[in-house]
Amino acid sequence: MIGAKRYLAAILISVAACGTSLAQKDPAYGTEDDLAFAGKLWQALEEARLLGEQGVYSTPHEGRNPHGAFLDTFTAAVPIDNQVHEVIIQRNYAGNQINRRAVADNPESWLHAVSVMLKRPGYSDKTKDWYWVQYGADGSVLKDEKNIPQAGAVAVGKSKGCIACHIMAPGGDMVFNHNRFSMPR
Ligand code: HEC
Repeated sequence: MIGAKRYLAAILISVAACGTSLAQKDPAYGTEDDLAFAGKLWQALEEARLLGEQGVYSTPHEGRNPHGAFLDTFTAAVPIDNQVHEVIIQRNYAGNQINRRAVADNPESWLHAVSVMLKRPGYSDKTKDWYWVQYGADGSVLKDEKNIPQAGAVAVGKSKGCIACHIMAPGGDMVFNHNRFSMPR
């Protein structure tokens, strides 16, 4: 009988340990699902006029690595699969002899990449529920140095990449430009 109890206890302990390791596992990124979502998101951003010829532009501001010499940044909401998501889109401008006026005059010709963070409630505590994606100017998802497409919980738990850097943003919301997402809503 004691043997059976020990056996049961051992099973329970290993199930609990397994549960813990599953809960702590860093989510993957660059998966097929992440890429499919990135495709829908790009389309939603175009439809919301946050991208493309009909896009709404703000005054570019000076940026820094890794995003680009000039940036413009919007916080907005876009529908995907009948659900509205809060989104921050930062357009990254780069090129030879770039300056603020040149970008303001013709933003699309300087567009180098588009960085997006999108709130997906319940997505992952480790990313504060942000889904991340780095697009090229043509909407393709750019790969990181490990050749993994940067879409999803990009490089979570690693020492480099979106999340490793954004975790240092003030307000604990992973957003540098404002603390809107760390305030009670
Ligand atoms: C080495 C640090 C670093 C890395 C890596 C990084 N970012 Fe950022 N990011 C910043 C900084 C700093 C800003 C604020 C720039 C500004 O507007 O002046 C920023 C701004 C942003 C913004 C606008 C919202 C905000 O936080 O203000 C988005 C969206 C964004 N980054 C997405 C990404 C994505 C997606 C990746 C990965 C593919 C990434 N970032 C990688 C430092 C980083």
